[in-house]
Amino acid sequence: MALLEIKDLEVKYGVIPALKGVSLFVESGEAVAIIGANGAGKTTLLHAISGIVKKAGGSVVFNGEDITATPAHKIVAKGISQVQEGRGIFPELTVKENLSLGAYLRRDADGIEADFKKVYQLFPRLEERMGQVAGTLSGGEQQMLAIGRALMARPKLLLLDEPSMGLSPIITENIFKTIKKLNKEQGMTILVVEQNAQMALWVSHRTYIMETGEIVSSGLSKELKHDDSIRRSYLGQKD
Ligand SMILES: Nc1ncnc2c1ncn2[C@@H]1O[C@H](COP(=O)(O)OP(=O)(O)O)[C@@H](O)[C@H]1O
Ligand SMILES: [Mg+2]
Repeated sequence: MALLEIKDLEVKYGVIPALKGVSLFVESGEAVAIIGANGAGKTTLLHAISGIVKKAGGSVVFNGEDITATPAHKIVAKGISQVQEGRGIFPELTVKENLSLGAYLRRDADGIEADFKKVYQLFPRLEERMGQVAGTLSGGEQQMLAIGRALMARPKLLLLDEPSMGLSPIITENIFKTIKKLNKEQGMTILVVEQNAQMALWVSHRTYIMETGEIVSSGLSKELKHDDSIRRSYLGQKD
């Protein structure tokens, strides 16, 4: 059974449908991407998985358990951590304090200490700046901190909402290299939503294409990279 299994998921804002019956799965150990333009419903989908928005229909099963109606804080405790679009870090707190907040549900001091080490290994920049207030970090460093904080909850599934947002191409590439490392070397299961199709296809095993609240196509990322309509629509290639 897949780690995450979503069936016919619907979300409405008032009467306007934002998700119109989305089905997808993520296997344990996989990196899965969802590509979609601005307004396609990517953030809504992640918020529905995390329990932040109410579902109008369908189901979400995580780790064999139906979490369709489970409140957000309980979903975090079950092992899903989301890195919010625009990061959502606490600018007045230091890097270390922000990371500590990621572990707020945990009582295993030794495990938390070990995870600090893992995060600093993944992002040496954060270790160098652990005493700095987060608001003075660069955009790329803030994204690293947001990912690090999510990892401090020791999730089974990491949800990433447009990690490339607002970052230069070089910094974006750096962040995605680290995401790939996290999946490959630490075995973290990842679901990432992105407008940056090139990075999303590069980092993932499988990709779903989302348009106006629906999955319109899916496949192995290495094959979709060569798909003509995807090249034209999402990779900006003319031929
Ligand atoms: N809180 C909200 N209230 C009303 N409409 C919303 C809200 N959040 C998002 N929407 C609408 O739902 C659609 C999907 O938005 P969103 O999930 O943010 O897309 P994406 O993350 O792919 O850019 C858009 O049309 C957006 O305007
Ligand atoms: Mg979004």
